[in-house]
Amino acid sequence: MPLTPFNIPTAHHLIGGTWTPANATIPVSDPSTGSPLTTIGRGTQADIDAAVTAAKNALDGAWGAMTALDRGRILTRIGKAVLTHVDALSELESRDVGKPLTQAHADAVALARYFEFYGGAADKITGETIPYQAGYTVYTLREPHGVTGHIIPWNYPMQIIGRSVGAALAMGNACVLKPAEDACLTAMAFGQIAIDAGLPAGALNIVTGLGAEAGVALSSHHEIAHMSFTGSVSTGEVIQAAAAKNVIPVTLELGGKSPQLVFDDADLDQALPFLVNAGIQNAGQTCSASSRILVQRGVYKKVCDRMSEAYRALKVGPATDDLNVGPLISAGQKAIVMSFLAKGADLTIAAQGQILTDAAGHYVPPTLFSDVPPDHPLAQDEIFGPVQVLIPFKDEAEALRIANSTKFGLVASVWTMDGGRQMRLAKALKSGQVFINNYGAGGGVELPFGGVGKSGHGREKGFEALYGFSTLKTVAAWHG
Ligand code: NAI
Ligand code: MG
Repeated sequence: MPLTPFNIPTAHHLIGGTWTPANATIPVSDPSTGSPLTTIGRGTQADIDAAVTAAKNALDGAWGAMTALDRGRILTRIGKAVLTHVDALSELESRDVGKPLTQAHADAVALARYFEFYGGAADKITGETIPYQAGYTVYTLREPHGVTGHIIPWNYPMQIIGRSVGAALAMGNACVLKPAEDACLTAMAFGQIAIDAGLPAGALNIVTGLGAEAGVALSSHHEIAHMSFTGSVSTGEVIQAAAAKNVIPVTLELGGKSPQLVFDDADLDQALPFLVNAGIQNAGQTCSASSRILVQRGVYKKVCDRMSEAYRALKVGPATDDLNVGPLISAGQKAIVMSFLAKGADLTIAAQGQILTDAAGHYVPPTLFSDVPPDHPLAQDEIFGPVQVLIPFKDEAEALRIANSTKFGLVASVWTMDGGRQMRLAKALKSGQVFINNYGAGGGVELPFGGVGKSGHGREKGFEALYGFSTLKTVAAWHG
């Protein structure tokens, strides 16, 4: 079935600028209906070996010889080209991952934005000169790692390609990308767009396949020099262990249990959309989803009532209907979320959204639980579905204690007009990002992003990512 206007053959890997047929395939289905969509390649060790060799050749060839300015120009061209394909990319993503069209559209625009940002940044990362002993001139050089591995999840393929591959290419690395088996199609389309925009062969290679096969082959490959991973904590542990064996740096972005803290003096009209959207965006399948809403007792009932009203109005249906919430990615992910709803049987459901379809997709009702004890599994574990818990608190000290009580630390937000409280909590929250009187799930190309604790380590986005995707060489020249 022709899936795209991109003329990409199905079940092929992108290796050295050429689409190479896969030896085996994996069926792909539409999460909105459960019906078959296409097939993708089931990559092997040999495919990964070929991709790594192609990346090395690119570094030894045209890509490695290119100036930062020229790399930047190519990345900028890729960003512009993505913008011209935003509608096609959105439709493809919608069908492949079940994302409502408007949300898929935002991802495609973000992909373009990353390439514009990193295209502009490529020639603005500099070393420094260091005062040293008499007779010396000392300076530092920022250099690419070499071949970088990128294993990405299914929830935001386009955004994560942008932030990871975009930054790695800007610094002059050559990339091998293994998209998630449930969401490869926009990655493949992007590969073609990048080639058409002039990216030299081998600078970006894409091998699709299973985590246990192509993923393991890539993350343990002895010729990759840096590994970037976004996904589950358990797979992150395996990735880091493989990186340890090869003694290479690794960036892990592993999700969270991100809280929003709502104080009695908060502007609730401003807060309400952020409180709900940050939980149900992409059906809650967001690493930076806000799944815990901590509310001070003075406004607790009001917030519970208003969020419940918003939940009852949430409409769930096929991605192409572009409602508030689409299906989950897979039957497996639905089973995980349903098991959490079962664990919440002892809790109070404040409100649920409405499923407006009989289609055999992977739908779950958006669910808001109230008065959830802070140590309950629903308040501690990442659910990765459209489920939020409301937790009341008495004062700032208790709010902070609850907020910092999970093993994660990715994003937090504070809703209060008290400037001192804003500053105190911004410092005290254990979190890679803190928002004050707003919440940014996924957005913010310019903003360094990453976790503490089990949310991972390393920073992506912004200029900070460029330091992570490069290594520093010190040159000490004695000239007398
Ligand atoms: P996963 O972490 O297993 O998959 C993410 C990527 O890693 C995919 O490309 C997969 O093929 C690859 N992978 C899997 N096992 C691998 C291995 N041993 N070596 C190398 N690569 C491997 O996540 P999964 O199973 O799709 O989802 C399970 C749970 O993980 C979700 O319910 C959610 O809680 C969490 N998750 C978090 C994400 C985030 O953005 N932080 C994204 C996706 C999942
Ligand atoms: Mg799919």
